[in-house]
Amino acid sequence: MKTVRFFWFYFKRYKLSFFVIFLGIIAATYLQVKTPVLLGDAIAELGKIGQQYFVAQQAGETGFKPDLADFQSVMSSLFLAYAATVVANLIYSLLLTRIVAHSTSRMRKGLFGKLERLTIAFFDRHKDGDILSRFTSDLDNIQNAFNQSMIQILSNGALYIGMIWMMFRQDTRLALVTIASTPVALIALVIIIRLARKYTNLQQAAVSKLNAYMDEKISGQKAIIVQGVQEETIEGFLELNEEVRRTTFMGRLFGGILFPFMNGMSLVNTAIVIFAGSNIVLNDASMDTAVALGLVVTFVQYSQQYYQPLMQISSSWAELQLAFTGAHRVQEMFDEPEEIRPQHAPLFTELKEGVEIKNIDFGYLPGQKVLDKVSISAPKGKMIAVVGPTGSGKTTIMNLINRFYDVDAGSIEFDGRDIRQYDLDSLREKVGIVLQESVLFSGTIADNIRFGNSSISQEMVEVAARATHIHDFIMSLPEGYETQVTDDENVFSTGQKQLISIARTLLTDPQVLILDEATSNVDTVTEAKIQKAMEAIIAGRTSFVIAHRLKTILNADEIIVLKDGKVIEQGNHQELLRQDGFYSELYHNQFVFE
Ligand SMILES: Nc1ncnc2c1ncn2[C@@H]1O[C@H](COP(=O)(O)OP(=O)(O)OP(=O)(O)O)[C@@H](O)[C@H]1O
Ligand SMILES: [Mg+2]
Repeated sequence: MKTVRFFWFYFKRYKLSFFVIFLGIIAATYLQVKTPVLLGDAIAELGKIGQQYFVAQQAGETGFKPDLADFQSVMSSLFLAYAATVVANLIYSLLLTRIVAHSTSRMRKGLFGKLERLTIAFFDRHKDGDILSRFTSDLDNIQNAFNQSMIQILSNGALYIGMIWMMFRQDTRLALVTIASTPVALIALVIIIRLARKYTNLQQAAVSKLNAYMDEKISGQKAIIVQGVQEETIEGFLELNEEVRRTTFMGRLFGGILFPFMNGMSLVNTAIVIFAGSNIVLNDASMDTAVALGLVVTFVQYSQQYYQPLMQISSSWAELQLAFTGAHRVQEMFDEPEEIRPQHAPLFTELKEGVEIKNIDFGYLPGQKVLDKVSISAPKGKMIAVVGPTGSGKTTIMNLINRFYDVDAGSIEFDGRDIRQYDLDSLREKVGIVLQESVLFSGTIADNIRFGNSSISQEMVEVAARATHIHDFIMSLPEGYETQVTDDENVFSTGQKQLISIARTLLTDPQVLILDEATSNVDTVTEAKIQKAMEAIIAGRTSFVIAHRLKTILNADEIIVLKDGKVIEQGNHQELLRQDGFYSELYHNQFVFE
């Protein structure tokens, strides 16, 4: 169903072209099935001339002049038929190629546009590789199928029907002889194709298993060496490799015998037609010998071509199915819910009163509750700290404030207005977020701090870097701010990456600030720097700070203690210590360690 909807959407505008293609296919098919008849006619004409020659010889006439007019007219029809077939083929192929090129380009554009409108939840649920393959292999499969298989199937289907129709019009007995072996061939065809497909699927599964295995082992090479399990690793590899070899061989074997087998069937069929066919028509007293000879020639042609369309259809069928699967997968993406972006919504420019989180429930997956009736109130300019054990839902709250996800129940309000009613871009622009796992993008360090805003001058970049205490480190690199960040970001520690992204956030001058402190161990020097950088960026802003080291948040205006998605305690540091509950325990534990 999805498949139909997909193709209808992209192909409906080409209705006229498809009609012309359809006519082209019918015309080409008719001409193609007509040629054996014309060829037979030509032989029959030649036969007649031969008979006249005999008659003339026996009558003792000399200087026999054969009448070639009929023969020549048949030959010129034959030539015309060939030429017209080529033209018709050319026209519909061109049309189809044009349609396919245009529509796959539109599909790609549509898909990419959709990608930008999807919710974060979609990206959580799908692996990057899976999304990428919808752009690459799925669209390629659709394109290939329409460029080749589709035409093959349509034209060969038409050819098959046309051939049977034409054969029965010529001579019922010979037609029956020609198609007699069909059931045997069809059964063999189906069995061979099933087996070939089975092993090709097994082969693909084996190959991806092998790839996953190698991927895992390569990235885990250090662990393998440390554990001393190289031998076992190689054994595992050999086993998977053997499976790939076996399935590849079987797949190729069955894939490879299809064509030779069908060619053999064609030969057998031709032999049957020649023997049985000549027996029938040449012994038919009601039929002129020359005409009978022509008929046999015609049917020899048919019997040679008879299995071609079936072969073509069956070999193109798999490709067409890939295209259908591709269309289904692409359509699936189009059906994904999009981010709710209110139209003509007010822009969020400045926070005047504060942020109010009211009784929110949230879960990433249906039926799973990560946050349960959480309420937090953050008046303008105050710093709210969120602490709690790992997995308690701290990062999740932050994801909701930025509208990476939407709440299931309750609401988050800026100045008394639900954040879902603000213009989404302006909201995200004014909510600064420093992620727990900061990421750098390829480009220079300066680019990373500017982050797409080219109006920010080099001076401003440096001011931000100084404020966040990363300037000295950057200057210590040989190329300073122009240092290229490559995919291999290993030169930067987690703490340094976080400092760079704090500098980046500082430059956006956010109204609401979210800081998710890096969990990975950072050395004490970097920790002190992060602490200072945080103080610099928090000053005077409404902020939410997630802290793992409680030292960072001793002076927070309000500390929220989260456990299993519920707020269990709240108050400032002194108040919480006095309550002598979870927070106080946490604090004393950390204190002991440091
Ligand atoms: N994208 C996601 N999809 C599904 N479940 C998720 C997703 N992200 C987090 N969770 C689940 O939600 C719960 C809360 O996760 P969250 O990241 O908010 O914890 P956290 O308090 O930030 O922990 P940490 O201190 O380790 O950063 C966890 O049980 C986690 O498994
Ligand atoms: Mg977290």
